[in-house]
Amino acid sequence: MTPDGAAPWWQEAVFYQIYPRSFADSDGDGVGDLAGIRAHLADLAWLGIDALWISPFFRSPMADCGYDVSDYCDVDPLFGDLAEFDGLVADAHALGMRVVIDWVPNHTSDQHPWFLDACSSPNSAHRDWYVWRDPNPDGTPPNNWVSAFDLDEPAWTFHEPTGQWYLHLFEPAQPDLDWDQPAVVEAMHDTLRFWLDRGVDGFRADVVHGIGKDPRLPDDPPAVAGIPHCALNDEPVTHERLRAIRTLVDSYPGERMMVGEVFLMSTEAVATYYGEGDELHLAFNFPPLFAPWLADRWRACIEDTTSALDPRGAWPTWVLSNHDNPRHRTRYDRAAARAGEDEATTTRRSEARARAAAVLLLTLRGTPFIYQGDELGLTDADIPDDRRLDPGGRDGCRAPLPWDATSDHGWTCGPGSRPWLPLPPESSTRNRAVEEADLTTILHLYRRMIALRGAVPALSRGSFEFLDLADGVLAYQRAHGDDVVTVLVNFEERPVDIAMASLAGAEVLLASDGTATTGGFSGVLGPDQAVVVRG
Ligand code: NOJ
Repeated sequence: MTPDGAAPWWQEAVFYQIYPRSFADSDGDGVGDLAGIRAHLADLAWLGIDALWISPFFRSPMADCGYDVSDYCDVDPLFGDLAEFDGLVADAHALGMRVVIDWVPNHTSDQHPWFLDACSSPNSAHRDWYVWRDPNPDGTPPNNWVSAFDLDEPAWTFHEPTGQWYLHLFEPAQPDLDWDQPAVVEAMHDTLRFWLDRGVDGFRADVVHGIGKDPRLPDDPPAVAGIPHCALNDEPVTHERLRAIRTLVDSYPGERMMVGEVFLMSTEAVATYYGEGDELHLAFNFPPLFAPWLADRWRACIEDTTSALDPRGAWPTWVLSNHDNPRHRTRYDRAAARAGEDEATTTRRSEARARAAAVLLLTLRGTPFIYQGDELGLTDADIPDDRRLDPGGRDGCRAPLPWDATSDHGWTCGPGSRPWLPLPPESSTRNRAVEEADLTTILHLYRRMIALRGAVPALSRGSFEFLDLADGVLAYQRAHGDDVVTVLVNFEERPVDIAMASLAGAEVLLASDGTATTGGFSGVLGPDQAVVVRG
């Protein structure tokens, strides 16, 4: 709560994740940039977006598309410059949207001046800013930790010239910082101050549970050895560090915030990173993102979230897709593929599911994050072998956003150049211009759903209670004061009767498959249909 008793903005906001390389290109080099984002801010305001999370645009050799930072306090020329960023923030604020940027505290680029200095000699000023260890007597790495993208590779690289291994939970080009060193803490705090002083509203903190490590660096236990260490690292000292970061962020006026990527597969563990309201403001929770499209699995995820977060007064987040995983329409599609089924039927069903999922995302209790392109119902692009770029195999979900029906879908490139990745399938129909012109599209469903959420406090800040109505249907009530709204999500491919007398004829506020917002509830949910009814 803020001093005047209102909920903080980040509890009620609808966030939209921008992956800058793939959002919009202003200069025709085939890579999106800050000016491209700026040119489309009004389109996001039209959709009803309250806050942007912009993935990294800092100086970087791009070994991990910007999650390998070589200068935390500058914009990579590929994306623009600091003046362009300042303009972007000013424009977004003028449109009533907040701007949250990505902060990468666990590791730098191997081209960061700190790491270059660290490599220059074991006695260099920055040597202990990173995690160095001697080889085992047989020359092997110091422990059995595995790096993130190639499970056959250790999380260590041997540095011949100085005869030690350095730690990297991700690529060798992403050496881990040693947060046990006060100078590292101070330097990284300074990077936060740099952007807070420029007016950002907050940060998405990359693998933030990695900034505390057991200084003994013990082997991962045999039962989990082989799982990337970044999905296992969960150390008490991190909480102390997050409290200091929270104090810094909260010392700025205007309700600045931090949402942490805590890549642990236990919601219980993720919840601890909210502390006692003195660590992360919000934390991503990934089990729902990995859940299949099944009502009982979703119910279990929601119950786990409620039981882990509520006792702490922690506020949930909901994410269906991001730049690290296949898009949910692709995932649910895959799960739904039927032998011998024609493509049109599969497409129809996956579209229906993507629509129902949008209603689910935007009606749960917590802060929703939309990944760019989900509002168009995009699926992953097919990436031919010779265009694969990402060491983690994540190119498909990072395909450029199609803006219109022209041959290049708004990605005008000069002769001999092309968008950095192929565009998604269906771009000639699933693009912003075509969908905006057609009230029946999923884009308009997102817009209507976001507007409804904004207009009905029960949906943004109301209580949450499950109803047991029918197998395969997730049913819940959100209430605020006297206003009660019921959400029904049919995960089944068949119509389902809803036996709840009080809902018969209740006012339908929104249906995932139609444009009408009037009429009474018939008592039957269509296949893969979600509805929001009053009562
Ligand atoms: C999580 C980010 O979301 C991902 O894209 C990146 O590769 C790793 N952290 C390493 O920074």
